[in-house]
Amino acid sequence: MADTPYLVSRLQGFGTTIFAEMSALAVATGSINLGQGFPDADGPPEVNEAAIAAIRSGHNQYPPGIGIPELRTAIAAHQAQWYGVDFDPDTEVLVTAGATEGIAAALLALCEPGDEVVTFEPYYDSYAACIALAGAHRRVVQLRTPDYSFDPSALIAAITPRTRVLLLNSPHNPTGKVFTRDELELIARLCVEHDLIAVTDEVYEHLVFDGEHQPLVTFSGMRDRTVTISSGGKTFSCTGWKIGWVCASPELTAAVRTVKQFLTYVNGGPFQYGIAAGLGLPGSVFRRVAADLEEKRDRLSAGLAAAGLSVFRSAGTYFVTVDIRSIGERDGLAFCRALPERCGVVAVPSVVFYDDHDAGRSLVRFACCKQLDVIDDAVGRLQGLTS
Ligand SMILES: Cc1ncc(COP(=O)(O)O)c(C=O)c1O
Repeated sequence: MADTPYLVSRLQGFGTTIFAEMSALAVATGSINLGQGFPDADGPPEVNEAAIAAIRSGHNQYPPGIGIPELRTAIAAHQAQWYGVDFDPDTEVLVTAGATEGIAAALLALCEPGDEVVTFEPYYDSYAACIALAGAHRRVVQLRTPDYSFDPSALIAAITPRTRVLLLNSPHNPTGKVFTRDELELIARLCVEHDLIAVTDEVYEHLVFDGEHQPLVTFSGMRDRTVTISSGGKTFSCTGWKIGWVCASPELTAAVRTVKQFLTYVNGGPFQYGIAAGLGLPGSVFRRVAADLEEKRDRLSAGLAAAGLSVFRSAGTYFVTVDIRSIGERDGLAFCRALPERCGVVAVPSVVFYDDHDAGRSLVRFACCKQLDVIDDAVGRLQGLTS
């Protein structure tokens, strides 16, 4: 039976997200919200000042469809400076309404109905919905606790003659995994062998604590078969601005642009100036952002461990995952629904990111992108969990 009567069949089952439910619960109970991943402090002041200056100087109408030249040039310079990849700002860079629109436009542009998209579970929730919107099918390869490695033979088995796209997220939400060079080499080799297009979601590219972010596009054979997607929201603590981008060969960019122009056409004119300023900041600013977040990751991880939870080390992103079986619990969804009443803290049950519910049932994700005193308050409240 249809769960939402007017909704098309391909989106049945995609009801209200768990984030909406948990954030509403946080408000209703006055809890500390470590559920949704958004920071509670501003990022580098230069970024905000540039957006304010753009508003004041009248940049308030539709920007160009592909994004303002200043931002496209800054994106291309950023890719060259950080990763040594050259993109033409006019034909190989496209500004989107957050990474979310870039991902949606890429999947809608590249997948025929019936095509298959291979991705890793747990996965960011918009992937399943966008694959379904495109009429494609997802095939998932599991990242296994405790180190979130995957079985290479499972990846090989997931690729079929119908596979069109491999969708990779690294650094990875919700696990905090940063894919290793060996793993990326295997993924790249399989993309080349099976003539797949890679769509990469790199929104946490600058939020890495252990290891190093290596874009898939830098691997052999990947330059012209990769759609690299990122955004400024996480790096510059402005998730509400929704300024993202796509970098790819002219042919792939043209395909994605064709869809993008009919989704939002454009967005966030003055904010594009802000992100352009941010991308041009010195490397030391990016390193400080990562170091600040690493301190928060450490503080939250230690507090969760002290509360008796089994903590998986997060190598990057805004998130830390725990297994609640260490405190005698089994069901993360029930645990998260009860946690606001029990302790005044909100978290997200990782099961919502899994097709294999058994694998994710006892896992719970906490966001560490909050000020240290907020994290301290939250972990203080959680110390009562086992009493
Ligand atoms: C893995 C991942 N991709 C994409 C997004 C969304 O990015 P944006 O806000 O730029 O659309 C998020 C936000 O949480 C995310 O975690």
